Amino acid sequence: MTQDEQKRAVAAAAIQHIPVGCIVGVGTGSTANYFIDELAKIKNKIEGAVASSDVTAQRLKGHGIEVLDLNNVIDLPVYVDGADEITEHLHMIKGGGGALTREKIVAAVARKFICITDQSKLVNILGNFPLPVEVIPMARSYVAREIVHLGGHPALRQGFVTDNGNVILDVHGLQIMNPVELEATLNQITGVVTNGLFARRPADTLLLGTDKGVRTIT
Ligand code: A5P
Repeated sequence: MTQDEQKRAVAAAAIQHIPVGCIVGVGTGSTANYFIDELAKIKNKIEGAVASSDVTAQRLKGHGIEVLDLNNVIDLPVYVDGADEITEHLHMIKGGGGALTREKIVAAVARKFICITDQSKLVNILGNFPLPVEVIPMARSYVAREIVHLGGHPALRQGFVTDNGNVILDVHGLQIMNPVELEATLNQITGVVTNGLFARRPADTLLLGTDKGVRTIT
């Protein structure tokens, strides 16, 4: 299977994990887009969706799926999203699309996080993909200097503003041996909104697209 076929296959497989009548948390990115297309086929069997970005909200609405405000949702049984890197421990780097903060919020609320990726995303050590850090604009230079002290090489994502009105620093050169610790350390820097490490709240299940079909890792 091509990478694109793997993304389509895991998106379709994720539908089996959606309880009838529930509200579904929906991620951001090309794999999540395939999932939205699949979700549209069962839209009469779900109550609605919570979106992790404006672009996802638009795509959901375009398919006639109701988009709900997370503040009005008491129970969110499942969140489905892609990742930029993921380990066998189900720790992830996310935020390649810049939606990391809202993704982390929806993931925090959801009872179950199902990650859907093609096989290229599975790694032994996180960090080859530059780690996105969302930053309040006036703190950009300060946060960048602090990240350099931690051994990273931050680069401002040019011409990009998040849905929350902030900027992204993409941190290169990290070999992340302890993602749980680094996630907390980065979030302690004043001016950081959040970072793209999902280690304190890892995925519960990974549906991995491979040449031989969809592999499930829990
Ligand atoms: C969006 O901000 C990211 O967290 C995405 O989940 C990630 O970039 C995966 O995107 P693709 O499915 O396009 O690879």
